[in-house]
Amino acid sequence: MKHLLEIDDLTLEELHRVLALAQDPNPPQVLAGQGMALVFEKPSTRTRNSMEMAVVQLGGHPVYIQADEVGMDTRETVEDVTRTLACFHAAIGARVFAHSTVERMANENLVPVVNMLCDESHPLQALADVLTLQQEFGDLTGRSVAYIGDGNNVFRSLALAAGMLGMEIRFSGPPGYRLSEADRDRLAMAGVAFSEHDHAEQAVEGVDAVYTDVWTSMGQEAESVQRLKDFEGFQINEKLMVAAGPQAIFLHCLPAHRGEEVSDGVVDSAASRVWPQAANRMHAARGLLAWLLGEANA
Ligand code: CP
Ligand code: NVA
Repeated sequence: MKHLLEIDDLTLEELHRVLALAQDPNPPQVLAGQGMALVFEKPSTRTRNSMEMAVVQLGGHPVYIQADEVGMDTRETVEDVTRTLACFHAAIGARVFAHSTVERMANENLVPVVNMLCDESHPLQALADVLTLQQEFGDLTGRSVAYIGDGNNVFRSLALAAGMLGMEIRFSGPPGYRLSEADRDRLAMAGVAFSEHDHAEQAVEGVDAVYTDVWTSMGQEAESVQRLKDFEGFQINEKLMVAAGPQAIFLHCLPAHRGEEVSDGVVDSAASRVWPQAANRMHAARGLLAWLLGEANA
């Protein structure tokens, strides 16, 4: 059984297929008469709404579940929750803290499991990101993206997805917030061209897209004061966009902490594509589910 826990669960061919299905004007009704359970340990605006609507557009019925309510590993084990949900649903989506939670769900192999964000990765976001980049630039081979800030879940998935599609990936962030050796090995395994830069200005020079995410992710709130200090100098603002050049577009997975990782002026600038990017969350989710519940697990 196929699941989507991280982008490199997909081959390059499968990634292209998902992106093609995301733009299919007649989505296959692969969920007709069926449900999808969407379990959230963390808050969400985009992921919940885009997934719910994607399920509806594929003929299915989404059921939103707050993890507290089902008590994963408190009321019953993650495995027992998974077995129960699989009695009623054709697929399970989960937004969790630990990556091991989605792995435990997938290991049951009862229905396809979709990672809707964990501390390590955010593959659904990356699918929307590359869809947005494709809509902007067409074939992504030889294009480039500079990610400035925290080498986090969003960045790992973006680097894999954009890198697999032939983009050069540049990163700049403070020491302590960069990719681990294991992360860099994983990118290398996927054939991704990756470079790390001490200065944000160097990383962005001449790139096609500049990307950032919050400095404090969900669950890291206790570190936020320290992180604000550590990330000083890594804000994407008008000056940094000038260093990138007039060709560069701006992307952000949202929610944005305006005035921290990005200035108001950049989010709202003509270079910003954050709203088409947010809208693409639904199209990308629909493409992924159409593939996962259709040809992938046929
Ligand atoms: N980008 C993203 O995943 O947004 P939400 O946290 O609102 O779902
Ligand atoms: N890195 C952020 C992404 C939110 C969509 C977080 O994990 O909170």
